[in-house]
Amino acid sequence: MKTARPPGTTGYDEVASALLATRLCFDKVHRHVLHLLPPRPARILDVGSGPGHDAATLATRGHSVVAVEPTAKLRDGARNLYAELPIEWVDDSLPALGHLCAMRPAPFDFILVEGVWAHLTQAERRQAYPVLAALLGDHGVLAISLRHGPAAPGRITHPVTATEAIALAEVSGLSTLVEVETGSIQAVNTANGVTWTRMAFRRSC
Ligand SMILES: C[S@@+](CC[C@H](N)C(=O)[O-])C[C@H]1O[C@@H](n2cnc3c(N)ncnc32)[C@H](O)[C@@H]1O
Repeated sequence: MKTARPPGTTGYDEVASALLATRLCFDKVHRHVLHLLPPRPARILDVGSGPGHDAATLATRGHSVVAVEPTAKLRDGARNLYAELPIEWVDDSLPALGHLCAMRPAPFDFILVEGVWAHLTQAERRQAYPVLAALLGDHGVLAISLRHGPAAPGRITHPVTATEAIALAEVSGLSTLVEVETGSIQAVNTANGVTWTRMAFRRSC
C-alpha cells in the first residue's frame, strides 16, 4: 500500500543530513514527561520519529520501540545510524497511520509525538486523536509537543493550541496529565521566537 506523502513533510529531505547529525539531550527535551515513561521493557511508539534519536535512546534504555516516519531520507538514515538497535522502522504518517494499524500492533504503553503536531491541519489533528488513542493500552500515555511560532524556512506548519488539544483528547477518552509552556532548546528556534507547549494525556479506562 503506497500513500501520498503528507504536506507536513515538505522541506525535510533538504535537512535530513543535518537532523541525523544533531542529537539533542533526550532527558532535557522531554523533562516534563520523563516521570510518565513506564518501567522497561515497555512498548513505545515514536510517531514522526525523524532522525530516530529519541527512538534510539528509548531502545537503548530497554524499551521495545516502533518508529513511524514518512520522510524516507530520515527513516532510512535513522535505520542505518541505529542499525544495531532492535527498532522497528515503519513508513507511515498521521492522521490515519494506516500501515501501522494494518499490522495490528499490540497496544502501546507510551506514544511520543515530538515536533510533529503543528505539521497537521486542524482536520488531520481531529482525525489523529482517536487513532492514537486506539493504539494506547489501558492507562497508556500519549506525549505530544505543540510548536508555536513561525515555520522553519521551507516547511509547512499550522497554528496549534493546548485548548484544542485538550478538547480533542477528551473526546477520545484521554485525560490531561501535563500542560507546560516552555521555550526552545535549539538556539535557532529561540532566535526565531519559537515556543512549545509540552503535553501528556492518559487513556482513562
Ligand atoms: C521537527 S521533526 C521531529 C522529528 C523527531 N520527532 C524529533 O523530535 O527529532 C518533524 C517530523 O515529522 C514528520 N512528519 C511530518 N508530517 C507528518 C505526518 N503527517 N505524520 C507523521 N510524521 C510527519 C517529518 O517527516 C519530520 O520527521
